[in-house]
Amino acid sequence: MSGPNTNYDPVEVTPLSPDEVARMRDEALAAIASARTLEELKEARIAHFGDKAPLTLANAEIGALPPQARAEAGKRVGAARAEVRRALAERTAQLEAERDRQVLLTEAVDVTLPWDRMPPGARHPVTMAADRLSDVFVAMGYEVAEGPEAEAEWYNFDALNFPPDHPAREAQDTLFVAGPKETPAEGGPGGTGGPGGTGGTGGTGGPLSSGRSGGPLSSGRSGGPLSSGRSGGPLSSGRSGGSGVILRTHTSPVQIRAMLSRPLPLYVVSPGRTYRSDALDATHSPVFHQIEGLAVDEGLTMADLRGAIQSFVDAMFGEGLRTRFRPDFFPFTEPSADVSMECHICRGASARPDGEPCRVCRSQGWIEIAGCGMVNPRVLIACGIDPDRYSGFAFGLGIERTLMIGHGVTDIRDTIEGDVRFSRAFGTEI
Ligand code: PHE
Repeated sequence: MSGPNTNYDPVEVTPLSPDEVARMRDEALAAIASARTLEELKEARIAHFGDKAPLTLANAEIGALPPQARAEAGKRVGAARAEVRRALAERTAQLEAERDRQVLLTEAVDVTLPWDRMPPGARHPVTMAADRLSDVFVAMGYEVAEGPEAEAEWYNFDALNFPPDHPAREAQDTLFVAGPKETPAEGGPGGTGGPGGTGGTGGTGGPLSSGRSGGPLSSGRSGGPLSSGRSGGPLSSGRSGGSGVILRTHTSPVQIRAMLSRPLPLYVVSPGRTYRSDALDATHSPVFHQIEGLAVDEGLTMADLRGAIQSFVDAMFGEGLRTRFRPDFFPFTEPSADVSMECHICRGASARPDGEPCRVCRSQGWIEIAGCGMVNPRVLIACGIDPDRYSGFAFGLGIERTLMIGHGVTDIRDTIEGDVRFSRAFGTEI
């Protein structure tokens, strides 16, 4: 039987000696202090405060000591571990604060930066106006018809009863793409054409009236009616000559295209780009837009035309504005009229003696908005339509002009320069 192990003095257990505990503590504190990241601190925690850390193991040894020694060692190790725990908590707080500061710096959102360098595009105000104008007629049962911008002279003039020497055909008003001789094989209406003469002088034109002799859609209206003394007008003078190609000066050639290609009765509206050789200024542009309306049916009268125009004005400018027809002349309508509507801004008040001046109608009380008339029987005949059975009406208006009237725009150049500051004011419909 073995006696008690007198050599065993648990008080002397090395890991619990004051020096050793202090060394382990200092090592732990040094490791904690030198941790530069939370990751390094985690490693230090495992090494010096984890299950296998020297101080933890030492702590486990305490139970084996005799009571007195156990109490002292317990205090020593407990104090050391408490110090390490506090150091860990402090360093954790420091490193977390540092990390948060870094996150704020590197992930900061600069709210003053442009939020979107590529804003989505939007439709142009002229396109929106054209659609809105078309919609008014589509709602009344009209179909949308289109035609080419580079148009045969025959469609633009001859078939519309413009005489060969009408001044609107003059290069001063009309932009030519190809003369009669150089007509490309595909370009014209199958190589047919009217007399093709481009003689004549002068003529006014432009999408806006601005006090000129022309109305809102005028082009060469100073030319007068059909040339007199000819045997047969331009329509009966044969279609065998060459026909030049021009940039269409109005949307009226689409009337001819519609009548030649569509069944009757016919109700079409055709918005589109038109060209005249005008210098660009506040009220004229060589490129502008028109919208044309054409109805051909049995029994149509001028009352139907008036009704169509009135519904259009009601839809575009609000109900209750009167419209006025005054005699006018277009070769392709007979009788013809120019349409004015009561000024939607002053409602005619500025025209009274005591009225305030109105910039929109120039104190006239009325604004010219369109040209119109009953389709000239000669045009119906040119399109193979029996004028004894069918009658028709047509009207045309300038889109920029309508847009400008409605929104108080005074310079037509704003509608073509493409400055988004102008466009944005009309909204950003896509
Ligand atoms: N085309 C004519 C113009 O541009 C307008 C118009 C169209 C007149 C239809 C009558 C009928 O001036």
